[in-house]
Amino acid sequence: MKNIYKVSAIACFILSIGIIFTSCNKSGTDTINIGEYESLTGSEATFGQSSHNGLVLAVEEVNNSGGLLGKQINLITEDNQGKPSETQTVVQKLINRDKVVAIIGEVASSRSKAGAPICQAAKIPMITPASTNPEVTTIGDYIFRVCFIDPFQATVMSKFAINSMKVTKIALLIDQKNAYSTGLADNFRQVYTSMGGQIVEEQKYSAGDKDFKAQLTAIKATNPEAIFIPGYYTDVNLISIQAREIGLTCPLFGSDGWESEKLTEGKAKDALEGSFFSTHVSADDPSPKIQDYIKKYKSKYNKEPDAMSFLAYDAGMILFDAIKKANSTEGEKIKNELAKTKDFPGVTGIITINQQRNAVKPAVVLEIKDGKFVYKETIAP
Ligand code: PHE
Repeated sequence: MKNIYKVSAIACFILSIGIIFTSCNKSGTDTINIGEYESLTGSEATFGQSSHNGLVLAVEEVNNSGGLLGKQINLITEDNQGKPSETQTVVQKLINRDKVVAIIGEVASSRSKAGAPICQAAKIPMITPASTNPEVTTIGDYIFRVCFIDPFQATVMSKFAINSMKVTKIALLIDQKNAYSTGLADNFRQVYTSMGGQIVEEQKYSAGDKDFKAQLTAIKATNPEAIFIPGYYTDVNLISIQAREIGLTCPLFGSDGWESEKLTEGKAKDALEGSFFSTHVSADDPSPKIQDYIKKYKSKYNKEPDAMSFLAYDAGMILFDAIKKANSTEGEKIKNELAKTKDFPGVTGIITINQQRNAVKPAVVLEIKDGKFVYKETIAP
């Protein structure tokens, strides 16, 4: 009898050690915390939502095939409501409270610029999937991106305007407090005029404005062949409708900030017919990688993916690859591996991170037809 007591006491002891051990594991040591900050709400909500969806696909894929360094990835997502001030709060929370080892975010350049200095100071690697303003990655050596930058995007739209559309007289309509918009306009002005194009008028607006008629009337008076609007979809939707209302019939040209299922909502579907914008990837691309991704995305989310989701998926995969190669979750080691990223087979193309921590990739121009985005051409770097 005594022996039985002894055996069961030992068994209880081993069992309780086991329970303590596994519950310790549950509270963090068997997971790798990755942070994400996005505009899940607010006037650029589709940017954040698409980006989040793409990143979740990447996390699930890696977790389902055994995880990273023998651990599962635990994605911690924060909504900054599309605000730079909220961005600083949530990035600090991810780093200080959640102890994330790396961060993915944001789509909009102004918010990446708000989050990046905090990541840099804490030596936490940050990858922006989609911010194209050149200054974002100049903030420091912990800040990376997996997309092209705006001087290139400006060249793409200048070449498209002049070579493909024979448009040599253009007006600019700029979101004056948005770093992405003003930066891209500066780049465009420079490239387009150096190629022989003429900027016949420049007007400004502020994100959230509802009435653009004064600016559009001033533009109309100069009789441009097209208007270049480097802005975000919520404003462009209204601008396009009001342009047609005052009798401006020329095509509108835009940039990646246009890409959203909400761009062509309501009357903008007709207003934007025959307009064009540059972006990162086209769903019409027959490449098997792109088509496989679209299939996966559709079966999980029951809708079409857009550029942000492709880019966030690639940002996640490149980060996980760097953590694997670093064989460590230390910020400095991950950063060193990210910097070495070369010929990574992303869904948005072959990705090499250059010395400035940017990706050099082609862009596509899409045409708006019947409210849909149809592939027009690819312009290589
Ligand atoms: N490039 C934009 C920016 O820097 C963000 C964006 C990327 C929006 C891709 C839509 C699609 O602000």
